[in-house]
Amino acid sequence: MLRIVAATLLFALACSGSDSDQAERLRRFNEAKFGMFIHWGPYSLASVEASWPIMSGKLMNEAEYRALRQRFNPTAFDAKAFVKLAREAGQRYMVFTSKHHDGFCMFDSAYTDYKITRTPYGKDIAAQLAAAAREEGMPLGFYYSPPDMNHPAYRDTSKPASANWQGEPARPEWPLYLDYMEIQLRELLTRYGDVFVVWFDGLSHQGAYDGWRFHRMIHQIQPMALINNRIGLTGDYVTPEQKLPKGIITKSSIVNGANPKDQALSSKLPSPSEFQPWETCMTINKTWAYNRNDTNFKSTTFLLRALIDAASRGGNFLLNVGPTPEGTIQPEFQERLRAMGVWLKVNGEAIYGTTFGPLQELPYGKTTAKGKTVFLFVYEMPKTELDVPLDGVRRVRLLAGGRTVKFTRHGGGVRIPVESVAADPHATVFALDLR
Ligand code: GLC
Repeated sequence: MLRIVAATLLFALACSGSDSDQAERLRRFNEAKFGMFIHWGPYSLASVEASWPIMSGKLMNEAEYRALRQRFNPTAFDAKAFVKLAREAGQRYMVFTSKHHDGFCMFDSAYTDYKITRTPYGKDIAAQLAAAAREEGMPLGFYYSPPDMNHPAYRDTSKPASANWQGEPARPEWPLYLDYMEIQLRELLTRYGDVFVVWFDGLSHQGAYDGWRFHRMIHQIQPMALINNRIGLTGDYVTPEQKLPKGIITKSSIVNGANPKDQALSSKLPSPSEFQPWETCMTINKTWAYNRNDTNFKSTTFLLRALIDAASRGGNFLLNVGPTPEGTIQPEFQERLRAMGVWLKVNGEAIYGTTFGPLQELPYGKTTAKGKTVFLFVYEMPKTELDVPLDGVRRVRLLAGGRTVKFTRHGGGVRIPVESVAADPHATVFALDLR
């Protein structure tokens, strides 16, 4: 019996890598805080969502969708410009769609012809991004969709994808599909330098992918690569999509690696070991893929406050861009990203490497924390004074300008006169250094 227990424990350890590896991975993740997500493929030519036209069977027929790659020729693509933009935005990692649900590979996989090097463009985009990222010291990760509408072992491809896009794990071919995933992931993990994260994106049948197998393999090849929760296991972090969780995510709120429901969360502060790392991914307009008709852009203030809200609950923020078919990032995205970067240059200390803040229910803003400092983000600046119900404050600094600010003790906290403080329309940040 003891032997079985020991063997099981050893097996679990081999799968998850060591605790210290995970701690280091999460430290890097938390230091980075803000990342750029890139959804890009031939679908950008048609201003449709990535993969969904063939899955829903609407908008475009499958043959037409598959034929897009014959016209895909993003000659204006400049990997360095992408990395530079992320840098200017204050983003500290990038996640690129190496393969979306449609199965099209934006890297030069040896195991399929449905890939970027078989387009008029003909060059490996993942490789160019990896080289540019390496040169800039920018961590790069790969989104990799376990679902693959193009692979005949994933589903019966004689039927339209809309009939069986969830995959057919009960067919005898399924194990061959898992082998395909393995050899492709090996390509991504051995040819493109350090991989910051393997960002899986499952749809259904999560248990059918044998998540442990891929965790084990990834950690054998790159122990520092993070793994998200979309292959049936919690991995290093969970991934709410298009929204911020309503409370702080705890380990006990996670069931089978799925993203937690808001009802399972509270604003109570968890212990560090109960805290569950997470990342919200979000689009700037409505779609992940480039769509020239989608002009529903979120404002810079909205996006910055989403980043702040995420950080205030201990989370990361992965903000998406869908590059154009020419290979550029549209000006509306660039403008917002750069404006976020300007704010972060002044206030980044309050975001990078911080954890959830001690005051979760302030009427006027948010908090984060790092060591003995609490950062206070004020969204609605009062006219004369700001009351902060925080004990043990010894100094207050305004991050913009870096000056110290006078305060008085008030009740159990402090009162900061703010008449002379120029409010930042996005968020004004005070650092409260504690005793
Ligand atoms: C949604 C979309 C998918 C996209 C993902 C990113 O699940 O359906 O296309 O890649 O979000 O999180």
